[in-house]
Order: sequence, then C-alpha cells, then structure tokens
Amino acid sequence: MAQKNSGSVDAVTAPAVDDSNHVGALIRLRGLTKSYEEAGTLHTVLHAIDADLRQGEFSVLLGKSGSGKSTLLNLIGGIDVPSAGEVWIKETCLTCLNERDLTLFRRDHIGFVFQFFNLIPTLTALENVSLPYELRGTDRRNNRREGERAARNLLERVGLGNRTDTYPDKLSGGEQQRVAIARALVHQPLLILADEPTGNLDEDTGKTVLNLLLELSRDAGKTLIMATHSPEVVPYADVVYHISEGKLVTEAEYQKIKQN
Ligand SMILES: Nc1ncnc2c1ncn2[C@@H]1O[C@H](COP(=O)(O)OP(=O)(O)OP(=O)(O)O)[C@@H](O)[C@H]1O
Ligand SMILES: [Mg+2]
Repeated sequence: MAQKNSGSVDAVTAPAVDDSNHVGALIRLRGLTKSYEEAGTLHTVLHAIDADLRQGEFSVLLGKSGSGKSTLLNLIGGIDVPSAGEVWIKETCLTCLNERDLTLFRRDHIGFVFQFFNLIPTLTALENVSLPYELRGTDRRNNRREGERAARNLLERVGLGNRTDTYPDKLSGGEQQRVAIARALVHQPLLILADEPTGNLDEDTGKTVLNLLLELSRDAGKTLIMATHSPEVVPYADVVYHISEGKLVTEAEYQKIKQN
C-alpha cells in the first residue's frame, strides 16, 4: 500500500498506470484486500480485487449475506481501511490519505444511503438534508443559505416538500429513506453508495424509494453503486457485479463460475 499522504486532497496524484483499461473510470480498485483476524485465524473477506468502475454508471453489487458487499462499499467510501491494496477515485488515492483529508474527501465527494437511514434525530428533515452542504468549505453562512435552498428543492423532488420541519421519528421508514436520498445528493457528490437502501422497507415503498434514487442519480449524472439482495434492481443496472469467494466478478464471469 502507498504511504499515507499528509498533504491536501488535491496534492495526491495517481501513479503511472496503463490508461487503456480505465478510460472513463471513476473508481479504480487495485489489489484491494480486507481480512479480519478471529481467534488467531485470518479470515479474508475481499481478496486482491482489481476493478475499474466507470463514471455515470449504475452498478449493482450482489452476493450472499456475509460475502463482503458492505465491506467493499465501506472501503470505496473511505469509511473503512483495507488490509492491503488501494482505492482510487479519479486522481485521488483514497487509501493514501490521512484521516483528516479522508474525512474531507468523503464529506465533499461521497453520498451514502444506508439500510437504516441514519438520519440525525435532533435535526429536522430540512436540517438533515442541508447538513452535507453546510459542512462544505469555509463560507458557512453562505453554505447554509445555499444548502437550505438545495435541500428544499430535493425534498420537493422526493415528495416531502411539506415535511421540511418534521423530525425523523415522526416520519415513516420510506419517508426517512427519501430524506436520506435527498441528503446523499444535496452536495452533488461524485459518487453515491447505497447499502441495501430498500432492505428495511415494504415492497411498494421499496420500489418508490428505488425509483427516486435511480431517477435523481441519473438526472444528476451521478455514479451509483448499490449493494442489494433485490433481484428486481438488476434490469435497471448498467453493470451487475457479484462478490464470490472474495472476488468481484461481473455477471458473465459469475455465470461461468456457477457452471463449473
Ligand atoms: N469488524 C469485523 N470483524 C470481523 N469480521 C467482520 C467485521 N466486519 C465484517 N466482518 C465479516 O466480514 C464478512 C463480510 O461482511 P459484510 O457485512 O461485508 O457482508 P455483506 O455481504 O454486506 O452481508 P449482508 O448481505 O448480510 O449485509 C462477514 O463474514 C462478516 O462477519
Ligand atoms: Mg451488508
């Protein structure tokens, strides 16, 4: 793994690699490995994954429970650190950044949607959605104004324009997830990571939430990676990946593995 870099996010540049394989790649995974030690035994969840994910695409991540979907999303989003290997997002080596720069990068460029919504209970819907925008840069006052406007817009788009002042505990699961989707998009991140965003919702609400997430991501030209157990998402995906035996494989590769 490369040395931790103590400079700014912008100061980090990609090493020389063959460009032909990742034209248009937003995310490059190189030798990405995650292992856990349990009772003296090393358990490798992700094993030397090499992959390029293209900008603007919607990728679905399938795999049985415990295969490593959340682990991979957390590594790509800089929530977790790998045991070995690198994550590159555009020209930034995420896994080379120090903690402070990683936090800044995550805050500015990544939007997360989680299975259990993870809204801040003491903030209203509007305040929850505005937060990522407000935290950007140094001009807090201006950010607050802009953030509120962007948040109101997005809350309208997810059908919650009349619930801006409501606290999360007064919202249904589907409504909370719609707030979370608005929050993930408000600061116009490069990348949206969704970990089973419909996993805690009934079928109809799940469909509504999924459609909103896809529509808003598409409209904004965002790259979206979604881990899910729901096969009905597959037809909407540009690329379908499986995690199988610690490797990230495409649908075609997965079908071959299954035949053998
Ligand atoms: N902190 C940890 N310590 C030890 N093992 C862990 C830790 N976090 C995750 N694991 C293990 O890593 C493996 C992958 O977990 P992960 O949560 O990524 O699976 P998943 O594919 O998201 O599963 P699910 O579909 O159930 O959400 C599991 O075997 C899990 O037990
Ligand atoms: Mg998971």
